[in-house]
Amino acid sequence: MANTTFAAIDVGTTKICTVVAELASAHEIRILGVGVGPSQGLNRGMVDNIHAAMEAIASSVERAERASGTRILSAHVGIKGPHVSSMNSRGIVAIADPRQPIAAGDVGRALESAGIVNIPNNREVLHVIPRFYVVDGQDHVADARGMFGSRLDVETHIVTAGSSAIHNLLRCVEGAGVHVDSLILDSLASGQAAVNPEELEHGVAVVDIGGGATDLAVYLHGAVAHTAVLPVGGAQMTGDLVIALRIPQPAAEQAKRDYGHALPSTVDEDETVEVDAFGSEGHKTVERRLIAEVLQARTEEILEMVRAEIRRGAPEELLAAGVVLTGGASSLPGIDLLAEEVLQLPARVGRPRHLAGMSDVLHEPAYSTPVGLLRWALREQEIMLRPAARQQRGGVVRGLARKVAQVVRAVLPQ
Ligand SMILES: Nc1ncnc2c1ncn2[C@@H]1O[C@H](COP(=O)(O)OP(=O)(O)OP(=O)(O)O)[C@@H](O)[C@H]1O
Ligand SMILES: [Mg+2]
Repeated sequence: MANTTFAAIDVGTTKICTVVAELASAHEIRILGVGVGPSQGLNRGMVDNIHAAMEAIASSVERAERASGTRILSAHVGIKGPHVSSMNSRGIVAIADPRQPIAAGDVGRALESAGIVNIPNNREVLHVIPRFYVVDGQDHVADARGMFGSRLDVETHIVTAGSSAIHNLLRCVEGAGVHVDSLILDSLASGQAAVNPEELEHGVAVVDIGGGATDLAVYLHGAVAHTAVLPVGGAQMTGDLVIALRIPQPAAEQAKRDYGHALPSTVDEDETVEVDAFGSEGHKTVERRLIAEVLQARTEEILEMVRAEIRRGAPEELLAAGVVLTGGASSLPGIDLLAEEVLQLPARVGRPRHLAGMSDVLHEPAYSTPVGLLRWALREQEIMLRPAARQQRGGVVRGLARKVAQVVRAVLPQ
């Protein structure tokens, strides 16, 4: 691939999506090709069958290669799962000469010191994201470089992941013939695609309800304050329909997509639909409202878990922009209204926007993660490409990029 061409792979529980893009301008990406295929060998966002997952990834990559006419040698890859956890950590450094402005090196040292956290041997640091700086007690400084002070604090959000889950994912992608440029937490990626800067600034929770898991990222003042992964998603909604309606999984999946609704009261009481069924008949008639009732119960439960998690991250009153729902399961009609009711916050469904090129398929909420992976990677790369920024932030960003690019083989000391 040419220098300006880059790729991302979203290894989801339901689908694997590979996207190839090129830099159209400093901030715009043009999609060159997309390869989507069914996922295999994954459970709740984690690899549980290396060979099956490797084959599914290889097939998605091959489709994207054919669609884009490029050869994908390396890609940015999304990671999620219950093994992921996060914390906020503060780094503090003294500025050697307070008469000189704070330099990139000082910021780099502060970030390094924030990244020195106690984590068990079986976990690795995925991200150390600066949230804001404090210069001599002056709080919430967005960029400390060029300021004067004798003490610099940086507040960071640190994401860690289980070593074996990381290595299983790496093995699958590299086994499919693709080098991993970086590993990026899915929820951070989704936020890049589905949320606008104003929402980020005013406080928002991004909730990606996928097939096997629900990712969550809470943003305050434009910076990530909390991330979490909940081990429930659209697969559980479908599973409930299998049990409640006594129908096979594919029929339940189809019924959910074709007739599902999160608000039973809005569905006509008398409306019935035909679905495939177990038993001698092979099909049956079910009330559409019953489908909605089953889906509402599970969706409500997921949203209650989301509410508890949001509260762990930030007081709800700070989330003026409320919640942006994304991920495949957010295509369920009525889910935004149900979310407003359960979460007592404004809610909308977010999908990738402002895409150029062969992007038709990517406009659905299910594609926020792959598009966001490209945006996150671009953001990091862009900072590294701009000479001024490199000079100013090089230590920080290159340090982080290196950490992730090496897929953090070095575990920080206990
Ligand atoms: N119209 C729809 N209504 C309801 N659910 C839908 C609809 N379309 C897709 N889904 C559900 O979305 C889920 C898949 O979402 P997505 O593609 O975001 O998951 P994934 O990224 O593969 O999984 P994960 O991120 O959890 O590993 C499936 O459970 C699917 O049934
Ligand atoms: Mg996903």
